[in-house]
Amino acid sequence: KVYRASTTAPVNIAVVKYWGKRDTKLNLPTNSSLSVTLSQADLRTLTTASCSAAFAHGDTLTLNGEPSDVAGPRTQACFRELRARRAALEAADPSLPKLSSMALSIVSENNFPTAAGLASSAAGFAAFVQAIANLYELPDSPSQLSIIARQGSGSACRSLFGGYVAWRAGDKQDGSDSMADLVAPASHWPNMRALILVASAAKKGVSSTAGMQQTVATSGLFQHRVASVPASMVAMEQAIKQRDFAVFAEVTMRESNSFHACCADTYPPIFYMNDVSRAAIRAVEAINAAAGKTVAAYTFDAGPNCVVYYLDEDAAAILGAFSAVLGGVTGWKYGSAGTVSSVKL
Ligand code: DP6
Repeated sequence: KVYRASTTAPVNIAVVKYWGKRDTKLNLPTNSSLSVTLSQADLRTLTTASCSAAFAHGDTLTLNGEPSDVAGPRTQACFRELRARRAALEAADPSLPKLSSMALSIVSENNFPTAAGLASSAAGFAAFVQAIANLYELPDSPSQLSIIARQGSGSACRSLFGGYVAWRAGDKQDGSDSMADLVAPASHWPNMRALILVASAAKKGVSSTAGMQQTVATSGLFQHRVASVPASMVAMEQAIKQRDFAVFAEVTMRESNSFHACCADTYPPIFYMNDVSRAAIRAVEAINAAAGKTVAAYTFDAGPNCVVYYLDEDAAAILGAFSAVLGGVTGWKYGSAGTVSSVKL
């Protein structure tokens, strides 16, 4: 008999950034962060977990049709934690099948090109953890599962939810209070949209994991950033609750700038943005100047691609301005939680 369960997990893009670990083994962050989840119609990972006493192999993982390594410490941590929870259920109820002692086969697929350089580890580890939790019929809440997903990839803990999600840094050494919670569902702000400008499909030069470690070790500016994040979290949560786009946008842009300033202050410096990225920033500034108020906000993760947040009522002005300005953009997508369309330039 083969036991099987499937799930999907969304991509999230942080508006208050996670950058820096206080514990690299447990993946505990130096600061809290907050993200907006993108629509699963456009960007999601679909994962199926199966197990069977008849599987002759050990645990296996297939990513987009290719066999992938399961030996890494992060993947192993997720397997171990999920198995331990299942084993506890089996110990409490001997009538349950002993799934915890069977080999697992995990098959995962993205509905977007991994080469596009969009956050895929977040959706990937979130779907991985949720699929196995479903297979094992674990009673754990999404916040509890986020503690496991966090050990796969920090940002993955925010993809266990849709909508607006906070990852609370916590201060316990064992990481038991470093987990995600829902700030507001996507339906709370239904006219929020995200435009993704693919400035380069090339794989990023410095991984987030390595980059943030170098920043923590060498940047003096980083300490100032860490001290300023709690105030940004408060302002951002309030802006979301009140649907105050101007404040949401300002905090989002300042946060992105602060993160990339710390990258530039890393020694040797790390540059994730390129000329197209900087052109996107200038385009957003021009759009806001022409509107006489803030109608668009940019943010960049550990790569050159730009995500622009805006409200649906301003779509015409924003999409028109970008198609006119950004000749170097290779492609774009726009949408929100709920309604997504893809547009080719
Ligand atoms: C810039 O979650 O990829 O996207 O925990 O080492 O796997 P690891 O790092 P990761 O870092 C994401 C960094 C970021 C900001 C963010 O998503 O908050």
